[in-house]
Amino acid sequence: MLKNDLFLRALKGQNVARPPVWMMRQAGRYLPEFMEIKKKYDFFTRCRTPELASEITIQPIRRFGMDAAVLFSDILVIPQAMNVEVQMKPDFGPYLPKPIRTQRDVDNVIVPDIHSELNYVYQAIQASKEKLDNEIPLIGFAGSPWTLLCYMVQGQGSKTFDKAKEFCFTNPSGAHELLQKLTDTTIEYLKAKINAGVDAVQIFDSWGGLLSPTDYQEFSWKYIQQIIDAVKNHAPIIVFGKGCWFALGEMSKSGASALGVDWTCSARNARYLSGGNITLQGNLDPSRLFSSPSDIKKMVNEMINDFGKDKYIVNLGHGILPNIPLDNVKAFIDAVKEYKS
Ligand code: CP3
Repeated sequence: MLKNDLFLRALKGQNVARPPVWMMRQAGRYLPEFMEIKKKYDFFTRCRTPELASEITIQPIRRFGMDAAVLFSDILVIPQAMNVEVQMKPDFGPYLPKPIRTQRDVDNVIVPDIHSELNYVYQAIQASKEKLDNEIPLIGFAGSPWTLLCYMVQGQGSKTFDKAKEFCFTNPSGAHELLQKLTDTTIEYLKAKINAGVDAVQIFDSWGGLLSPTDYQEFSWKYIQQIIDAVKNHAPIIVFGKGCWFALGEMSKSGASALGVDWTCSARNARYLSGGNITLQGNLDPSRLFSSPSDIKKMVNEMINDFGKDKYIVNLGHGILPNIPLDNVKAFIDAVKEYKS
């Protein structure tokens, strides 16, 4: 049905002539056409207006022709739907004026009716699918419960998320209650997204790597596994845990279709740790897109040779940075499309 199903084939582990390519955070700030829309509408208006969200979703596809689109939205629409105020402050990022700090705060977090509360997301999916016209698949996503807890407790972005960790280690039962509410909400949310038309989903555990391997099991992985169990029969699921190379072994046995890898883990190590059989996604250092187009092309070829063309999805090791030149993005995508084994 899809004209280009390279991405779905790679997720199934089927052989491909070349690997598929997309970029985390591809729908965003490095694109002039995105900045035009950003001038006129604030962040959550862009998320909540299906016409705008779907337009932003396909902007990078029109320009570069990736093999998959990723819905324009944000992981923080989930806390919002759970009765926690989230603002997106220009030049600052997410800001939650009333962060979770006490048991009473946890009690006030609701597990919402995700169908009515986030109806605008499903409409954006339908609008995006129409615009994509069966050319390429559409990816939906959610933050991991741990990564969402980080923002909900810290109240803003952070390099260490020290307040989030303090909360987990001083009030573990409250933390687990919050993580379970997030997990239950995320499961229903992802199922609704799949119902609305996304072809695959990705869990972003952007802050998983802040935890020790033992704490990762307790505060992050346990909940991601619940999500995989509930969703894997509905659509392929990709788990991206930034800094979580230590968990690749366990992740490879989880029922996920693919695992994201950041640039601090070599292809060889990632294949070894994940048992050699599961599809991997990644992992060029996003800053490497500052290199010249010809160097980018060289690095992409080496990366594909290192991971192998099959069971592999070309991507960056984290989201694209805002100030990357468009020609360099084009070199990254074109190198994959021109790849010959
Ligand atoms: O390709 C895409 O951009 C798809 C949409 C998308 C956004 N956020 C849009 C966005 C996706 C997949 C996300 C995920 C997301 N959001 C993550 C996980 C991925 C990652 O980068 O680790 C996280 C941690 C967030 C939370 C968030 N949203 C932060 C920390 C920020 C501010 C910093 C930043 O990256 O700009 C946002 C805002 C945000 N989300 C923007 C976009 C395009 C930029 C703000 C704007 O457009 O006004």
